[in-house]
Amino acid sequence: MNGKRILLIIGGGIAAYKSCELVRVLRRRGASVRCVVTASGQKFVTPMTLAALSEDKVYTDLFDLKDEAEMGHIQLSRQADLVVVAPATADLMAKMAAGIADDLATTLLLATDKPVLVAPAMNVRMWDHPATRRNVATLRADGLTVLNPDEGPMACGEFGPGRLPDPEAIADAIAAQLDPAAKPLAGKHALVTAGPTHEPIDPVRVIANRSSGLQGFAIAEALAKAGARVTLVAGPVSLPTPAGVHRVDVETAAQMAAAVDAALPADIAVMVAAVADWRVDAAPAKLKKEAGPPQLNWQKNPDILATLCASAQRPGLVIGFAAETENAADQGAAKRVRKGCDWIVANDVSQDPMGGAQNRVHLIHADGTENWDRMDKTQVAQMLVQRISDALCGN
Ligand SMILES: Cc1cc2nc3c(=O)[nH]c(=O)nc-3n(C[C@H](O)[C@H](O)[C@H](O)COP(=O)(O)O)c2cc1C
Repeated sequence: MNGKRILLIIGGGIAAYKSCELVRVLRRRGASVRCVVTASGQKFVTPMTLAALSEDKVYTDLFDLKDEAEMGHIQLSRQADLVVVAPATADLMAKMAAGIADDLATTLLLATDKPVLVAPAMNVRMWDHPATRRNVATLRADGLTVLNPDEGPMACGEFGPGRLPDPEAIADAIAAQLDPAAKPLAGKHALVTAGPTHEPIDPVRVIANRSSGLQGFAIAEALAKAGARVTLVAGPVSLPTPAGVHRVDVETAAQMAAAVDAALPADIAVMVAAVADWRVDAAPAKLKKEAGPPQLNWQKNPDILATLCASAQRPGLVIGFAAETENAADQGAAKRVRKGCDWIVANDVSQDPMGGAQNRVHLIHADGTENWDRMDKTQVAQMLVQRISDALCGN
């Protein structure tokens, strides 16, 4: 980040205190930081603190005539390599999405010709509110980078997505934005499914499979490290969410299909989940042993991979997974054609039982099949993400 100039806009959220640390982290990495604080932002952090940490004047007022004479608001908005909004409140993002310019921060954001990176932080209900979802989608469609907030306990006592990512993680995202080669998938949205599905038989029993979710979670993590914005639709597993990944938990195949549809559009889809092919009509009350073996009425589940491939919103690169116990490579090649996806990663689960730390896979594409050595699932993930970067970015 040596010599890069960051214009940091601080909104009026409880996480504004973290912007002080962000100034320090960015300066330690060699960038210069100029701060703008909104009126609400000043309720949480003082211009004095930010001036001391940035060793620069802090800007607060659009109608400061002295500044207009020395440094106009248009000039301020252009004298940076990157504009960063952290924390971005729901209010600030709503104004940005609507093109409102009623104070210094929003006027700068409308006047700038520089890339803008937005780090939202707010209560989980505010983040989940349809208005905020719409505003985030608008900002992303306008070409701004909007980071996903972290998930966890919040200052307000609730739990969920909405926390400002750590200053080091925001600085990583800033570095990626400033040097796109370091993060080949920056600006791409990747959708990953992982884990099994559970199909209820009655309120206490399910039809499940042995998928652990390890491979899908490793791929989501590797995609995020390569700079992609990642949505991970996870079946019932108890794995931690990889850093920077937006996770949507589901239980059944029908819920997974709906979550995949809701996450579109995406540039990349990696469908790793072991989705149950069949479900049964679930009994409303617990089935009793005394009634004898239950009659299960089987129904076909939605084919998530085939549906995605046939969708009008089909991602540019769709990768399916095939777990087979016989002729994995041949069956995988047939599955690639049948489903209409670009690549299939086929693994022989008779050799490497599901749930283990290692995988031996075949990567099947239109030009043939690559047989990869047995390796850790994290290494499979890294190699696959390298292939994805090569395919999308020609690196
Ligand atoms: C104690 C307190 C904490 C707040 N925290 C947040 C927050 O984390 N995120 C948010 O979007 N709004 C938060 N708000 C509401 C904003 O301060 C309010 O919407 C304000 O108008 C935002 O101003 P801005 O556009 O300058 O950021 C908080 C308000 C209070 C009183």
